[in-house]
Amino acid sequence: MKIAALLSLLGFLAACDTVSAKNDKKKKGELCEASFVLIGDSTTNNNTVTPNSGGWGNGFCASLQPGIGCQNFGSNGATTGTIVTRGLYEAAINATKAEVADGKSVFVTLQFGHNDMKIAGPESMAANLTQFVSDIRSVGGHPILLTPLSRRGFNNDSTTINNSLGPWADATRGVATQTNSTLLPLNEASVNYLQLIGPNASHLMNRLPADNTHLDVGGQELFGRMVADLMALLTGFESNFKTESPFVPNPPLSEAIWTGKQYVFHAVCPSYNASECIGDEPRPL
Ligand SMILES: *[C@@H]1O[C@H](CO)[C@@H](O)[C@H](O)[C@H]1NC(C)=O
Ligand SMILES: *[C@@H]1O[C@H](CO)[C@@H](O)[C@H](O)[C@H]1NC(C)=O
Ligand SMILES: *[C@@H]1O[C@H](CO)[C@@H](O)[C@H](O)[C@H]1NC(C)=O
Ligand SMILES: *[C@@H]1O[C@H](CO)[C@@H](O)[C@H](O)[C@H]1NC(C)=O
Ligand SMILES: *[C@@H]1O[C@H](CO)[C@@H](O)[C@H](O)[C@H]1NC(C)=O
Ligand SMILES: *[C@@H]1O[C@H](CO)[C@@H](O)[C@H](O)[C@H]1NC(C)=O
Ligand SMILES: *[C@@H]1O[C@H](CO)[C@@H](O)[C@H](O)[C@H]1NC(C)=O
Ligand SMILES: *[C@@H]1O[C@H](CO)[C@@H](O)[C@H](O)[C@H]1NC(C)=O
Repeated sequence: MKIAALLSLLGFLAACDTVSAKNDKKKKGELCEASFVLIGDSTTNNNTVTPNSGGWGNGFCASLQPGIGCQNFGSNGATTGTIVTRGLYEAAINATKAEVADGKSVFVTLQFGHNDMKIAGPESMAANLTQFVSDIRSVGGHPILLTPLSRRGFNNDSTTINNSLGPWADATRGVATQTNSTLLPLNEASVNYLQLIGPNASHLMNRLPADNTHLDVGGQELFGRMVADLMALLTGFESNFKTESPFVPNPPLSEAIWTGKQYVFHAVCPSYNASECIGDEPRPL
């Protein structure tokens, strides 16, 4: 039996950069292999077909090198409360444990706010996120907090985003500071990008024409890459976690994102029905 599995049985789950990595064949050189577990609402969810679904998770997982683990537990309509009652939180923690026991350095993303804001003030979400960070660490995972992806609703000036998620972004940032967790400012980066490309280009990434929250396949790829780039920049894989950088670069898409330009995908999808675009490129802007 592998040492990692033994330690796990004894309740000592080792992060990749400590004991288990030394015994794991998957380790490349001195660096550990990363694995990802995504926890969130529909704006993380892996679904290109159902309306009211479609987040950055698919695009993020697609930006990883082949063979790097990426499990998406994002759930449509979930809050930091219902992700637990639906059993998905426990499933994500179980997946984290299993990957840690397999010698991986496991990064667990947490992104909420879109639905939490409908039922309570930001402090309720913050308290739940603080508990999640503690749980993830206790099983050997590395929590990564993301401020919530912006909706694509503009103010009447047609220039600025109506960022009603702002207080939930602030609360997420506060949890990251208090728990010394990595914080990816997705809300800030997505607001900035959408304001630079403007409302028309922004709405072309809608999953359905009047849905400013969920993403079509092009939007999933674009914001998945935005998360990947933020993570590559801010996580410090090698220096902080002795983990190899897990991403396959996409320079043209990253350049468009960080210079605030529309990204023109290569082929045409027949309609807003995203399932018709799977395996193909999204429609052009
Ligand atoms: C996303 O869903 C598709 C279809 O159900 C599945 O094949 C794929 O493995 C899922 N990806 C992730 C990262 O969960
Ligand atoms: C936080 O979790 C509690 C259960 O522990 C739940 O009652 C509450 O609704 C959650 N808050 C939000 C904003 O989802
Ligand atoms: C998580 O793992 C525990 C212990 O193996 C198991 O009892 C439980 O059913 C699992 N939960 C989920 C949601 O997979
Ligand atoms: C901004 O968003 C809030 C919350 O979603 C909404 O109530 C308000 O009407 C929006 N304002 C504009 C100008 O669309
Ligand atoms: C924005 O425009 C709509 C439609 O013209 C109007 O009903 C609404 O009052 C305006 N909101 C603000 C905050 O000016
Ligand atoms: C915070 O985390 C970083 C690495 O993620 C670590 O280097 C630093 O020592 C931690 N600081 C505290 C106060 O725990
Ligand atoms: C945005 O779309 C609207 C409606 O189709 C159109 O009237 C307007 O000219 C477009 N704006 C820009 C800057 O292309
Ligand atoms: C979307 O397209 C797929 C494949 O063409 C089709 O099976 C499905 O019925 C369509 N869904 C909707 C809602 O039009």
